[in-house]
Amino acid sequence: MTAVTLTKPDDWHLHLRDGDAMKSIVGMSAAQMGRAIIMPNLSPPVKNSVQAKAYREEIMRALPKATSFNPLMVLYLTDRTTKAEIVEASNTQEVYAAKLYPAGATTNSENGVTNLNSIYPALESMEKEGMPLLVHGEATDSNIDIFDREAVFIDTTLSKVIKDFPELKIVLEHITTKDAVDFIVESEKNIAATITPHHLLANRNHMLVGGVKPHYYCLPILKRQYPHQDSLITAATSGNPKFFLGTDSAPHDQHQKESACGCAGIFSAHAAIELYAEAFDRNNSIEKLEGFSSIFGPDFYDLPHNTEKITLEKTTWKVQDSYEFANTTVVPFFAGLNLSWRLLT
Ligand code: DOR
Ligand code: ZN
Repeated sequence: MTAVTLTKPDDWHLHLRDGDAMKSIVGMSAAQMGRAIIMPNLSPPVKNSVQAKAYREEIMRALPKATSFNPLMVLYLTDRTTKAEIVEASNTQEVYAAKLYPAGATTNSENGVTNLNSIYPALESMEKEGMPLLVHGEATDSNIDIFDREAVFIDTTLSKVIKDFPELKIVLEHITTKDAVDFIVESEKNIAATITPHHLLANRNHMLVGGVKPHYYCLPILKRQYPHQDSLITAATSGNPKFFLGTDSAPHDQHQKESACGCAGIFSAHAAIELYAEAFDRNNSIEKLEGFSSIFGPDFYDLPHNTEKITLEKTTWKVQDSYEFANTTVVPFFAGLNLSWRLLT
């Protein structure tokens, strides 16, 4: 096969940042994706509909003129999110979901949820309104090993939320373990998961063998190839509609990553669909890409499929070493490495 044409994909988990940082990268997602679920972990976070609409306006102003890219906004849940805020968000056309960051789990999660019970009123409203809950699924107790945090979260927290809110739509985001894959496969159809390109294409050896590679550091952290990465590849390419595309592209300034205490986040928006094509093709499953990238996500969110098409051509090209990012640079995933599919523009 030398080319594939797909329904235009959507990114169901994207960090665009704000200000000049956002301006320098938003065009890359707009060039590839029809829509994207925009993460609210700005500083300060996007906590209500007014802030979500203002952030969306800022994104719209920064977009290239000829684009149909549609940013879908998300509220950041805190211990103080009220039922009224959820009802207002569900009546706000621009807002599509709310996000649970356990406080301290990741970048800009300090204002996240410290006590699950505090968001029960919000979750009750979300279940009633049909608003999806997006979950950063990692336990935060300091004694839990970083490689076990996803599995522990599923056992202790996610299972409880599902039991208490059986009709709530939930996306367990950026899953990284066989434990998560098995849990999603066995759950009801209102529970789904996104998978990133980096968790499909890399494992902890990429980050740690031969020296610490800060550009492979993200949260949840990369796991073992077997059984975790292998299990994610199997899930993504299985055609099971519970698994769909969410890049978690999370740009950070190069110097903040190449530091004694480097930030978590892998930037993949420059080549998102090409990275997924690489992962699917390495598994001889390129024909499964369209469902994962363009069909199962909108079906879960009850949204129409995009009508535009994109074409990927089989040709080898090299990812550049860095991109401009505000007044500095960001190092992209696969920097200096070859990819074997290229999006035709
Ligand atoms: O690696 C990550 N980076 N994981 C997250 O959950 C947040 C993200 C960010 O915002 O940088
Ligand atoms: Zn994220």
